[in-house]
Amino acid sequence: EHPIPVIAIDGPSASGKGTVAQLVADKLGFAYLDSGALYRVVAFAAHQNNIAWDDADAVAKCAKSLQIKFIHDQVLLNGQDISNEIRTELMGKGASQVAVHAPVRAALVDLQHSFLQSPGLVADGRDMGTVIFPSAPLKIFLTASTEIRAERRYKQLLGKNQAANYENILQDLQERDARDQRRASAPLVMAEHAILLETDNLSIADAVNTVLDAFKKCKD
Ligand code: CDP
Ligand code: CDP
Repeated sequence: EHPIPVIAIDGPSASGKGTVAQLVADKLGFAYLDSGALYRVVAFAAHQNNIAWDDADAVAKCAKSLQIKFIHDQVLLNGQDISNEIRTELMGKGASQVAVHAPVRAALVDLQHSFLQSPGLVADGRDMGTVIFPSAPLKIFLTASTEIRAERRYKQLLGKNQAANYENILQDLQERDARDQRRASAPLVMAEHAILLETDNLSIADAVNTVLDAFKKCKD
């Protein structure tokens, strides 16, 4: 009996995790978990219910009450499509604030585990390899310099015709990195045995192929 394989892809904001993880999942026919979207949904729901993001217990209670579903590219909250609403910079910031609280993180564990299905799962986030799927046979730590990541986020926003200011994005990224790395509960750290992928000079296609090659090797 072989366990269902998980490819854990962790790293800081705008390092390319989502893009690379989805392409790897498509290529292998695996399911995909965008764990960051869950924290964004929690931030959105708290905001909607006038719950302050720093109120750990109230946010955790809110998180437990949510009906979250992913259908294709859509994120549904209690049946309502909120895919666009959670993708704003404000909800990114809110996500990183609610994600600090241990009870909020605990409220999302079972939901994340439920994404595991045959023939495999690609999971992207901050703690996929360290906390949620610690026995994943392949763990990737995807990163890039802050400046490159800010530039990527900037271009991504322009591409979506959204207002973007490079300096603001850079500052926001630095704040989010610091909060993700310094928190006590599931901080952003490289998992033991993870493969470090620095992508400053690595294209998306090359990053995807590196992950696929590493997966082939760890299966043999
Ligand atoms: O796309 P981006 O990397 O900016 O963010 P995201 O993956 O959508 O996640 C939003 C926030 O949720 C991050 O800044 C983290 O603080 C938090 N998060 C987390 O704590 N643990 C995860 N597994 C995923 C996201
Ligand atoms: O999920 P995460 O926040 O880590 O990043 P993403 O949303 O997948 O990627 C952020 C942006 O960087 C996207 O527009 C990607 O197309 C781009 N990107 C890139 O230009 N070069 C890479 N090697 C990886 C991502």
